[in-house]
Amino acid sequence: MLGIDVSPLQPTVVPPNLTFRIQDASEEWIEQFDYIHMRDVAWIRDFPLILEHAYNNLTPGGWIEFQEPNHSPSRSEYVLRTPSAMLTFWQTVGEGLKRMDTNLGNVEKLKDMLSDIGFVNVKEEVIEIPFGAWHENGELNSIGRIYEEAWLQNLEGLALRPLSKLDGWDQSSFKQFVERVRQMHKEPRAHKNECIQFYVVCGQKPEEESVEDG
Ligand SMILES: C[S@@+](CC[C@H](N)C(=O)[O-])C[C@H]1O[C@@H](n2cnc3c(N)ncnc32)[C@H](O)[C@@H]1O
Repeated sequence: MLGIDVSPLQPTVVPPNLTFRIQDASEEWIEQFDYIHMRDVAWIRDFPLILEHAYNNLTPGGWIEFQEPNHSPSRSEYVLRTPSAMLTFWQTVGEGLKRMDTNLGNVEKLKDMLSDIGFVNVKEEVIEIPFGAWHENGELNSIGRIYEEAWLQNLEGLALRPLSKLDGWDQSSFKQFVERVRQMHKEPRAHKNECIQFYVVCGQKPEEESVEDG
């Protein structure tokens, strides 16, 4: 099993069948895989090219699976349930991402992107992850708590590059923005029902077509 990321954030203690490598997924892939898993990457730069590499380097009959949080939900019921600090955060970061030639809208189009490139048996499941520790079910409560914690820890890292692309933004406006989002998050609000929409999308590369005699 091989795990890649372009940043040097790989853990050092890993199971014996797992190797981590620092690699830019938009560059040519060398190995072939029979299963490819990606999470929270549908909005990174060159995503369509990365998808193309994945298709070309998957063995016939192999599967790809995505688990993608929707940072920019377009359907009102999800907009209403997404924490407002998070919406504010991603709306602004999304503006910067557009300047980097990428966007947050791929998640909702992922199923079609997979079909267009040639994947078959494409399936999409949209689930809701609680945000914060409000759920009465113990497991979902933990998921919500961990997701909230991970988001709060990653705010700066996620925002730095995209916001540096916006006109007039400097270190001080960046710090103010992150502080404002943190304050919004602390404001008293109905924690109940806050959710993140998660897209689980998978598809299969067609089996090699048999060559007909004659
Ligand atoms: C939101 S994080 C998700 C990380 C991880 N997949 C997870 O779910 O915990 C997006 C990751 O994509 C990585 N990334 C961005 N562009 C990349 C590229 N061209 N090749 C490989 N990784 C890339 C970033 O370094 C970052 O760690």
